[in-house]
Amino acid sequence: MEERREINDSPEHLEKDNPIPKAWMILFVGLILWGLYYIWFYTPQISGWSYYKRLEAELTKEKQILKEEKPLHENPYEQNEKAIAEGKVIYATYCSMCHGDNLKGGVGPDLTGRLKYGETDDKKFESIAKGRGGGMPPFLDQLGRDRIWKVLAYVDSVREYGRPY
Ligand code: HEC
Repeated sequence: MEERREINDSPEHLEKDNPIPKAWMILFVGLILWGLYYIWFYTPQISGWSYYKRLEAELTKEKQILKEEKPLHENPYEQNEKAIAEGKVIYATYCSMCHGDNLKGGVGPDLTGRLKYGETDDKKFESIAKGRGGGMPPFLDQLGRDRIWKVLAYVDSVREYGRPY
């Protein structure tokens, strides 16, 4: 029995007697403070934060873009990552069945090639908004101006900037 005790740690110095490492203490207190801050920040009753407010702010900003530059000759969303992502979804829903998943055409013409109704932003907008005689339906009522600019931002990201479809 005596032999064994010598091999083991001395009972006088136990793990619990070690001081808590400083870094641990900082992390521990930091996590508690962060938790409190998080609760405070995301509780509308306390901080007034609300998702609706953020959404509203975003919408007002977008409306402003459209109002300020009316009538638009340039796409306000050109190379805007968020708009392009939205436009891609719009394209898949409303356009790809005629113009192809890769924009290379099908029932409708290739949108990456020469466009016979014009290749400036306002001409392309017009093609989508008002439609074209040879079977292109008008989308203004269905999509509204804002979403037409977004789908065009996506089309142009492939067409003008050579990004993957
Ligand atoms: C029902 C099939 C169909 C759908 C859906 C459709 N298109 Fe078209 N689109 C056409 C056809 C057909 C033409 C060619 C019209 C012509 O030559 O007069 C065309 C023409 C166009 C043109 C003008 C091309 C040029 O040569 O000037 C653009 C731009 C265009 N479409 C974009 C879109 C976008 C963006 C969408 C989705 C919002 C869309 N189209 C949805 C069939 C379609």
